[in-house]
Amino acid sequence: SKFDLIVINGVIVTATDVIPCCIGIKDGKIHTLAPAFTSEEVGDARIIDAEGAYVMPGGVDAHVHLCQDLKTGPHGLGGECADNFETGSRSAAAGGTTTMITFATQTRDESDRSLIKVVEAYNARAEATGSYIDYGFHIIIVRNDEDVLKVELPALVKDWGITSCKLFMTYESQRLTDSQLLDVMLASQKNDITTMIHAENGDMIQWLTEKLEDKGMVAPYYHALSRPPIVEMEATNRAIALAGLIQNPVLFVHIGSAIAATNVRNAQTQGMPIYAETCPQYLNLTYDDLQRFHSPTCFENSKHVCSPPPPPGTSDQDELYLGLLNGTFTIFSSDHCPFRYDSPHGKLTGVLEDPSSMKDEAPCEGEALQDLVKRKPGSFRFIPNGIPGVETRLPLLFSGGLATGRITAQKFVELTSTNPAKLYGLYPKKGALMPGSDADLVIWHPQKTFKSFRLINSMLHHNVDYTPYEGKEFVNWPRYTILRGKVIWAEGELTGKAYDGEYLKRGPSYFGKGASKRPIDSRKTATWLH
Ligand code: URP
Ligand code: ZN
Ligand code: ZN
Ligand code: ZN
Repeated sequence: SKFDLIVINGVIVTATDVIPCCIGIKDGKIHTLAPAFTSEEVGDARIIDAEGAYVMPGGVDAHVHLCQDLKTGPHGLGGECADNFETGSRSAAAGGTTTMITFATQTRDESDRSLIKVVEAYNARAEATGSYIDYGFHIIIVRNDEDVLKVELPALVKDWGITSCKLFMTYESQRLTDSQLLDVMLASQKNDITTMIHAENGDMIQWLTEKLEDKGMVAPYYHALSRPPIVEMEATNRAIALAGLIQNPVLFVHIGSAIAATNVRNAQTQGMPIYAETCPQYLNLTYDDLQRFHSPTCFENSKHVCSPPPPPGTSDQDELYLGLLNGTFTIFSSDHCPFRYDSPHGKLTGVLEDPSSMKDEAPCEGEALQDLVKRKPGSFRFIPNGIPGVETRLPLLFSGGLATGRITAQKFVELTSTNPAKLYGLYPKKGALMPGSDADLVIWHPQKTFKSFRLINSMLHHNVDYTPYEGKEFVNWPRYTILRGKVIWAEGELTGKAYDGEYLKRGPSYFGKGASKRPIDSRKTATWLH
């Protein structure tokens, strides 16, 4: 027959349009969009009736940590990644996401000098379990080896389709100095690789952390006070200047404060190729969540420790929502960072008085154990940073943004699917409902008939023992998730398989080198460099 699958009675939403429309899918691709199909066209195709609900391109989550363990963990302080590619992608699928870009992380170990080897190792982890959804990698670069950058960046682009790197301005084991940042940015720019920056001033954080510890202010709540918004404000400001010096496009990951967003917006107003991401935690949590549980020192408050921390209050959240609406933020990603709470390397261990008193201490040996014992117990600084959220990303923005009228349906799709696909070289294969695009869809419930509910962690499909959104009310949830024409999530059940997902070789960014046609200002840019 003409189609393998058709979706009828849906209201399709793209980054530009909201239109009642039927979709015909053939061989895993969007084939036809039409007001209706004839019975001849329908033939024996499988029919999904959307019953008037929104039908959107599948979610593209451009910030997901999987299989990053201990010293290769995102914060370099230990912590054990509970989700692998199977469990992480399963959770993503159940939350309407069909594409994820995860991190392959270099470390400062000599054995990790080669970026290619790092990517091969992470890819082997993905292939070991398979993925329910399509996936790619960003490369995290923590050193500026000229020879490696020169030879390996072109190979990463050509052989692996890796067209983005992440650089850190904080975390002792990952941060680059300003000149190192410039080295890597320039090398990236030459290869049309998008530079993602974790912008926090590492020295400010270290200094404040020591001052807090001197005063005995070590409970999880003080994690927030060790990195007030000015920490992110300074770092974004500096990185914008560094990027401007060489006219390098930059995407700031996980922006958590209104004043950092203002820096981004000012740079954009000047025509600079500066982009930003924010995440559900910054719209849904505040400092108060770091003391939500029954006493300020309660271990459970470590569940909300992430970096940057959630903003101080709801007025910051309002500003961040405004940034979503007015274009300051290009993308909305989860920063899914799946540390368990109650486990030997979990978030709990960071606040224990005495780590050796932990229950369920798993037999762990060698370096890992040494690391654990060496930790100074009882301070927020030892809590693994990051919180899970790959499954709740779309539903949280639906409930908090779309259903409340804070953002439009088109904006929702732009931020969660179309723009991440454009930014990271996947468009229009992903992030679009054009004929020829991959038939990746998320179909919501009809808003009228959906009964809102309160989330509990056991409803989720990740391998983490908590959700920061426990008890939160959701007014909708993905009813179907479709990956290249295959239904992988339907009516509360996973119908896909761990090897449904494919590796994605990515192209250059739509927002890359060519995006800014503005004449270069030699007072701000070293024009002679190019
Ligand atoms: O706290 C966070 N965000 N941890 C994850 C690692 C990172 O920097 O993205
Ligand atoms: Zn980061
Ligand atoms: Zn408690
Ligand atoms: Zn992250």
